[in-house]
Amino acid sequence: MIKLHDLYFKPFISAQKIEDTVERMAQEIAKDLGDEIPVFVGILNGSFMFVSDFVKKYPKPCEVTFIKLASYEGVKSTEDIQRLIGLTQDLSGRTVVILEDIIDSGNTMDEVHRIFKNESVKELIIATMFYKPEAYKKDYKLHYIGIEIPKKFIVGYGLDYDGLGRDLPEVYQLKTTQHMTNLVLFGPPGAGKGTQAEFLKQKYNLVHISTGDVFRYNIKNETALGTLAKSYMDKGELVPDQVTIDMLNAEVEKNAGCNGFIFDGFPRTNAQAEALDKLMDSKDSQINAMIALEVDDEVLVGRLLERGKTSGRADDADESIIRNRITEYYSKTAILKDYYSAQDKYYGVDGVGSIEEITVRLSAVIDSL
Ligand code: IMP
Ligand code: MG
Repeated sequence: MIKLHDLYFKPFISAQKIEDTVERMAQEIAKDLGDEIPVFVGILNGSFMFVSDFVKKYPKPCEVTFIKLASYEGVKSTEDIQRLIGLTQDLSGRTVVILEDIIDSGNTMDEVHRIFKNESVKELIIATMFYKPEAYKKDYKLHYIGIEIPKKFIVGYGLDYDGLGRDLPEVYQLKTTQHMTNLVLFGPPGAGKGTQAEFLKQKYNLVHISTGDVFRYNIKNETALGTLAKSYMDKGELVPDQVTIDMLNAEVEKNAGCNGFIFDGFPRTNAQAEALDKLMDSKDSQINAMIALEVDDEVLVGRLLERGKTSGRADDADESIIRNRITEYYSKTAILKDYYSAQDKYYGVDGVGSIEEITVRLSAVIDSL
């Protein structure tokens, strides 16, 4: 991810893919033009990088010139196209190929056609590296298109956001939501995770996604994913990560526009943590923190034995079972602690004290994010 001025952008199109596309366009156009020596006309500023790469790959003689137009303000296309530098040479009788970096609304194409209307060129051909079909409002034929992209703002490879980003060799796409707070909550059995999750949910207006609840909901309601998950469980097999991720995706989508999520019970493995990162990225968001409640083993054992006296839960009554559950918790979460530490997102919080004291510590972490 990169930041330009006040906005965040995520990697979108690699330098390699751009290079392959430019190569393909140069070959196609050269083939179609035969022995004609074309004049390539770049539209400045944005097209400088595309034109430079394109003509280097163009396998035959050609001429290159530029016109300079200005139309964009910030991240919005404006109707008002200004001609800053027009044509500086006579192109009558020539085959002209316009090289555009990007065609969005097509307003710039109006001005280009206006410029060439009285030039009596032999042919006016339009080639654009990037094209947003959903944004295009004009009828001009676009003869060559490099890559079609959704109607979202991009930077890099000549394209800028208020002056920045033109120099990047690859293309980045604007991230549209960065305001969410997404937490992965961990805690050994007896650490008070449920109580604290409930509190965080209220205080920060987050949606609590407990994987166990999500599974039970999907299975009980016999959703397609629930039925699929159950088919594995019935065979005694692990539910594939993708099925779980698809269920979480549905939960995330149901709550689109919320302040963020508390993930509870997921991820459990490196692969799952990676899948969750991908899921959040596809929502233009990210996991902000893994918060783990840290409680000394002896304190946990004491708490659980105490709870066992009243809860009637068999697994809370036996000390060796309790110790096993705690050991298992640490062996499983150690990997995730490493995973999130590597991203500087691991926060251990002292889970010994009163509920209020722990709550204050958790809030301090979240407020600092
Ligand atoms: P149009 O006139 O709306 O087709 O827009 C064309 C011009 O707007 C391009 O030459 C760019 O300068 C600018 N533009 C359109 N979309 C983008 C974008 O996603 N990022 C950066 N500049 C853009
Ligand atoms: Mg342009």
